[in-house]
Amino acid sequence: MEPVKPSSADPANPALELLLQRRSNHRLRAPGPSADELESIVAAALRVPDFGHLRPFRFLIAQGEGLDRLGQAMQRAAIAAGQPRSVIARTPRMPHRAPLVIVAVASPKPDPVVPLFDQQLCAASTVLTMQLAARALGYSGVWRSGWLMHDRHLHRELQLSDSEQIVGFLYLGTPVPIGEPEPAVESPHDYLSWL
Ligand SMILES: Cc1cc2nc3c(=O)[nH]c(=O)nc-3n(C[C@H](O)[C@H](O)[C@H](O)COP(=O)(O)O)c2cc1C
Repeated sequence: MEPVKPSSADPANPALELLLQRRSNHRLRAPGPSADELESIVAAALRVPDFGHLRPFRFLIAQGEGLDRLGQAMQRAAIAAGQPRSVIARTPRMPHRAPLVIVAVASPKPDPVVPLFDQQLCAASTVLTMQLAARALGYSGVWRSGWLMHDRHLHRELQLSDSEQIVGFLYLGTPVPIGEPEPAVESPHDYLSWL
């Protein structure tokens, strides 16, 4: 198996090219996806593998003033969590790193067969799917977590239930070119063991 060079993807196979070229962008600006495009992005998320078709996910969308509301919720969580003053001061601006933030939430359903972890994996897979769908539409993004993803104060601020768990903050927008280094050329062999 040859090393995978992201820049050598086969343009004759655009689906594979999309996967081989996937990158994150931390610097994002407006415009973000339109309402129709957001609908397509979420429609792609609905196609993730879903054991038992439990739909163990939901999405909170923040754009425009919603970014302010998300930032305020993050700041209240930071205060409640006893974060340092520097963190409390910067939280309100955090969502403004992109024109659109999707908070992906694992929303597990009680089920005798499908374990909680499987349902959380299902929800997490929506994040990558949405990042790829956004890329297919010409946008870029980054999947973020940070302490806030694990903070129950923020979960309560966002009116999530005790069983729900944020699995990602997906920041989406138009990439700002900043000359990020090319990913290292890797051999898939390094990650394989044959049984
Ligand atoms: C669950 C998860 C949480 C992540 N959280 C963060 C984060 O909080 N901050 C960050 O800079 N990158 C985070 N990343 C990594 C970025 O999404 C991204 O993969 C990384 O910057 C490498 O860039 P690349 O995707 O182009 O290889 C996270 C990735 C995953 C899968």
